[in-house]
Amino acid sequence: MGRQLALGVLISGSGTNLQAIIDAIEGKTLDAVIRVVISNREDALGLARARERNIPIEVLDHRKFASRESYDQALVEILQSREVELVILAGFMRLLSPVFVKAFTNRIMNIHPALLPSFPGLHVQRKALEHGVRFSGCTVHFVNEECDEGPIIIQAVVPVYQDDTEESLSARILQEEHRIYPRAIQLYSEGRLRLVGRRVVVDHLGNQEDQVLIQPPLNG
Ligand code: GRF
Repeated sequence: MGRQLALGVLISGSGTNLQAIIDAIEGKTLDAVIRVVISNREDALGLARARERNIPIEVLDHRKFASRESYDQALVEILQSREVELVILAGFMRLLSPVFVKAFTNRIMNIHPALLPSFPGLHVQRKALEHGVRFSGCTVHFVNEECDEGPIIIQAVVPVYQDDTEESLSARILQEEHRIYPRAIQLYSEGRLRLVGRRVVVDHLGNQEDQVLIQPPLNG
């Protein structure tokens, strides 16, 4: 194990991506430690996952704040007080203001259940189905001030079947999310992600790893 990257994970819901990150840390495929899990909802199911592992939890209810900026400032203060290096958005259903993004420039990751730049925003599995695409997938990206617009780190592709429902497609995509999110964080932890303009360059790519960055694998 190398150096342990200090993570802060933000959730609003079931936290299955949080669980995938916890599992990767425990399985020693991710050199990181979760310093805090923050939820804007106290009923987020994901909180139980953190509690079970004795990970510190904070519930910060956005309805108790007068503005988006004051809420984001409170988030930033919690993350800074825990000396978080990388912020992980894992189903955090809040738009972030510049207050937040500037405090963690290029140090915020998000996972989105579509192949960006197609289908940014909400209900994207349904939109992909309605549009009739043959493939969809998920994208891990750095967060900038535009929603779902930041530099792409890795993506995974899944087929869309004719009899898919929003639920079946979401479940297929979610499975891939759980594979690629810990991988993207590990690349960051190893210091191998470099921004060149709006592109993310991954340093020291071996053949084996190409298969993780490109799905389905080129030669698998
Ligand atoms: C995932 O579909 C993710 O792509 C989106 O929100 C959902 C979070 O799911 N950003 P979970 O809370 O990790 O189970």
